[in-house]
Amino acid sequence: MTPTRILFVGATGSIGRLAVNEALRQGYQVRALVRDATRAGLPGDVELSVGDLTRLDAFETALEGADGIVFTQGSHTSAAMVEAVDYGAVRNALMALRGRKVRIALMTAIGVTYMNSQYNRTIEAHDWKRRSERLVRASGNEYTIVRPGWFDYNDDDQRRITFLQGDTRHNASPEDGVVARRQIARVLVDALGCDEATNTTLELVAEHGAEQDDLAPLFAALEPDPTDGVDGVLDEDNFPLTDQPRRVLDDLETIRRAR
Ligand SMILES: NC(=O)c1ccc[n+]([C@@H]2O[C@H](COP(=O)([O-])OP(=O)(O)OC[C@H]3O[C@@H](n4cnc5c(N)ncnc54)[C@H](OP(=O)(O)O)[C@@H]3O)[C@@H](O)[C@H]2O)c1
Repeated sequence: MTPTRILFVGATGSIGRLAVNEALRQGYQVRALVRDATRAGLPGDVELSVGDLTRLDAFETALEGADGIVFTQGSHTSAAMVEAVDYGAVRNALMALRGRKVRIALMTAIGVTYMNSQYNRTIEAHDWKRRSERLVRASGNEYTIVRPGWFDYNDDDQRRITFLQGDTRHNASPEDGVVARRQIARVLVDALGCDEATNTTLELVAEHGAEQDDLAPLFAALEPDPTDGVDGVLDEDNFPLTDQPRRVLDDLETIRRAR
């Protein structure tokens, strides 16, 4: 399904702003969930829905009439905020939909399946992003999950968009892959209108060479995710559901039941 009216979550961020502009350029109707309309600074043809993405009621309003969602929100201030923002916004949106179907593009990060305990980090950003991916896969919505490499670390001639699967790069440095912010925005928005992108999970990096005009062949070459699982098709099985917090399992169950 190709959506027409897209809700952007994280629209005021460094990727969100570019994604909003790309969606307008591609002719979509754009709505942005923002916490402060006076600070949003988005183009005039963006419809603003003012609300707090950590709250379910914000999505009940913001999703009225929307048939697509692009998630690019992210927090790094504390473990609680990462849960509330990176994971919580996805959870709240899916709960607010109560089974109504929309087309989803979710941005997480390259290396997301490498657990935070393995990086020895205290803020569990990867783990919460991975849990948000699982909610999307379990929801029965058509989706594309984009795990970008390091933002804007690319050389000027490093523009050839490249999709990987299996999330096997775990250096936690630009060695894992780099990509321009503008290209991340393009891939998220292109995915919405591309049947071949449906139900895929990919790592996004740029290699030396020119950017492609049409991404459909790249999406078509991907293996789709299995319909009966919660992880990306080639992801390492290293994050057992039995180890997940009770509240996450409850969210998964509620979202599955609403499918
Ligand atoms: N940097 C990299 O190389 C890299 C690579 C892969 C993935 N990532 C991931 O990309 C994400 C960063 O993307 P970005 O650069 O676009 O982020 P950003 O510029 O920091 O934007 C974050 C967005 O989330 C919103 N947000 C954050 N905390 C919020 C809160 N408490 N309540 C409501 N909204 C909140 C912000 O809203 P406001 O404008 O209102 O604050 C903004 O729209 C991170 O999660 C990171 O893990 C980064």
